[in-house]
Amino acid sequence: MARILVTGGAGYIGSHTCLELLNAGHEVVVFDNLSNSSEEALHRVQKLADKTLVFVKGDIRHPDELDQVFQNHQIDAVIHFAGLKAVGESQQIPLVYFDNNIAGSAQLFKSMEKAGVFTLVFSSSATVYDEANHSPLNETMSTGMPSNNYGYTKLIVEQMLEKLAQADARWSIALLRYFNPVGAHQSGLIGEDPQGIPNNLMPYVTQVAVGRREKLSIYGNDYDTIDGTGVRDYIHVVDLANAHLCALNNRLAAQGCRAWNIGTGHGSSVLEVKNTFEQVNGVAIAFEFAPRRAGDVATSFADNRRAINELDWQPQYTLKDMLADSWNWQKQNPNGFN
Ligand code: NAD
Ligand code: WQD
Repeated sequence: MARILVTGGAGYIGSHTCLELLNAGHEVVVFDNLSNSSEEALHRVQKLADKTLVFVKGDIRHPDELDQVFQNHQIDAVIHFAGLKAVGESQQIPLVYFDNNIAGSAQLFKSMEKAGVFTLVFSSSATVYDEANHSPLNETMSTGMPSNNYGYTKLIVEQMLEKLAQADARWSIALLRYFNPVGAHQSGLIGEDPQGIPNNLMPYVTQVAVGRREKLSIYGNDYDTIDGTGVRDYIHVVDLANAHLCALNNRLAAQGCRAWNIGTGHGSSVLEVKNTFEQVNGVAIAFEFAPRRAGDVATSFADNRRAINELDWQPQYTLKDMLADSWNWQKQNPNGFN
């Protein structure tokens, strides 16, 4: 049992991870400014776990608030989800992304060092890989210059953490490179609740299904893929949440900085996702083909063997499970947590 500080713990992946942490017997302190989430998610996490967690409303850019948390709670390790993640927005307001994701992360690491806490799991992304690499992507492949500012912030924080671990052997850091998180907890009580028009495929599909959007635009049907549409490695958010517990166990017993891909190792096309959603859930998804979206690659999926071999982790859920659980959440909560 450990006491874990979860930054961004009220968000989509954070809330699912808090639930798994509580279920595994850990104590959880959430630190979140609620800029893209609702405290209701945390009420539901506690209800599902039948256990309590501590919630501190605060911002990772504010050193006093961070230091206070470390002073008030004997933290053993940190899982760092807090950050902004809208790719398009990161092109419009890069400084806000640099400030939240890069400066905010540096501030967190400073407070950790001050408090003598050196165990960290960081939310990275498959977007850090050089686009010239061919899938399946493995952790020994080169990173590149991401096509957007959001991805750039993830690359910079990864590099900062590698240098930190090189400079000071007390650090033990996991870089988890997520592929495409989708799905929701099976209860349908917590799930993804994007503000405004969704950028990502899955919430767009569920919002069409529930009648909030007219039709899905499929960005490109002339890629060199099985059916011309983009291929991605969708991973159930509960499998992803569990990967954090596995990484935490690994890091509490090791030193240094190491990256792991978190994906299923299997790619699915946009059409396959749409068709499987219709088949599993019995709901039609109106759609049209639209031009390619700037910055998209044709295919991205993981070589996940390092995580399976080293973290004692194994994804459990199929694409059908992911699509059934996404729909179950959306159906029960047509307007998210509102
Ligand atoms: P999310 O927006 O649901 O969660 C992020 C949380 O961080 C939110 O609760 C938000 O309020 C909080 N937050 C943002 N800025 C903050 C700040 N300055 N101080 C304190 N709290 C702050 O996003 P998510 O999908 O759960 O993603 C979690 C992490 O995983 C992010 O770092 C994201 O970049 C990364 N990631 C997500 C995906 C994905 O597709 N969802 C893929 C790869 C990596
Ligand atoms: C998936 C596929 C689209 C929406 C992004 C970020 C990445 C990570 C996860 C996190 C692609 C197609 C999408 C739509 C569509 N970010 N699509 N119509 O682009 O793989 O990854 O989210 O924090 O860094 O770049 O995910 O869900 O946006 O797209 O046809 O309305 O669906 O072209 O092929 P992506 P996505």
